[in-house]
Parts: sequence; structure tokens; C-alpha cells
Amino acid sequence: MEDFGITQEDIKLIQDSFGKVCDTNCWELLYKKLFELDKEIPALFKGDMKDQQHRIMTMMKIVVEGLNHPEIIIPAIQKMGQRHIEYGVQEKYYSTFKSALMFALGQTLGTDFTPNVKKSWEKFYDLLASTMNEQ
Ligand code: HEM
Repeated sequence: MEDFGITQEDIKLIQDSFGKVCDTNCWELLYKKLFELDKEIPALFKGDMKDQQHRIMTMMKIVVEGLNHPEIIIPAIQKMGQRHIEYGVQEKYYSTFKSALMFALGQTLGTDFTPNVKKSWEKFYDLLASTMNEQ
């Protein structure tokens, strides 16, 4: 992950802050914001939103814990990206999703969402989104 500009310090900030948001309503806030930001998006979600909140939290946990072993998580992230094409997700939605995620993290972490923590999450999200969209 160093190749993509994610440093050990970023990994530490992401892992520590993820521990604080993992079992909170951060994921509920994320989708609430996402649905407000783009009115086309809610219709893409066919399943129960509580289940979806749990799925994304679990997936983020796996990826965050795997940041030191990119060779293991990258193929799983690419496959997840391919499934998103089947869900009708267009590339342009990824930047809206980023705004919603940053909002939810900010609300949940409060003063712990320092500029450095925010910068590390932005880098991490960009890496995640670009890996999901790699063909
Ligand atoms: C880093 C970005 C993202 C992550 C980590 C993520 C994670 C997930 C996970 C874990 C699932 C469960 C199913 C599966 O694994 O295939 C899922 C489903 C889904 N995601 Fe994402 N996602 C991301 C971005 C997006 C974006 C940008 C959109 C569109 C706005 C989106 C829309 C959906 C939809 C429509 C489903 C299917 C829901 C259903 O069951 O109906 N996701 N996502």
C-alpha cells in the first residue's frame, strides 16, 4: 500500500479511528447522507438497510485490518467492485459516497476526526474506490 501513498502512519490512524466507529451508528449516518446527496442512489438498494449497514461495516473491518497485507485484500476489493457494476453503481457515485463517508466519520468521531485522520481516510477511500474500479 506504500506504493499508493498510504504510509504506516496513515494505517495506524485509520485502524485506531475505525476501532472507534466500528460498532456505532456511523454506517446508518453514511447511508442517510448518501441518499440525501443523490436522489438516484436509494433505488439501487434492494435489500434491508440494517443488513447493508452491517455488511459495509464488516467489509471495512476486513479491509482496515488487512491494510498491512494488500496482496490479500486487493483481489477481494476488485471482486467487490465487479459486483457493484452488477448493482448498477456508476463510477460517478463513488465521489458522492466519499462525501457521505467523510460526513459520517466526522459526526461519529467528533474532535477525534483531526485533519490528519481525515487526510488518511481520504487517501484510503481513494485507493479503495480506484481498486474497486480497476478492470
Ligand atoms: C468504498 C466504497 C464501497 C464499499 C466498501 C462498499 C461495500 C459494499 C458491500 C460490502 C456490499 C454488500 C454486497 C457485496 O459485497 O457485494 C455492498 C452492496 C451494495 N453497494 Fe456498496 N460499497 C462501496 C461503494 C458503493 C457506492 C459508491 C455505491 C453507489 C452509490 C454502492 C452501492 C451498493 C449497492 C446498490 C449494493 C447492493 C445493495 C443491495 O443488496 O441491494 N456502494 N457495498
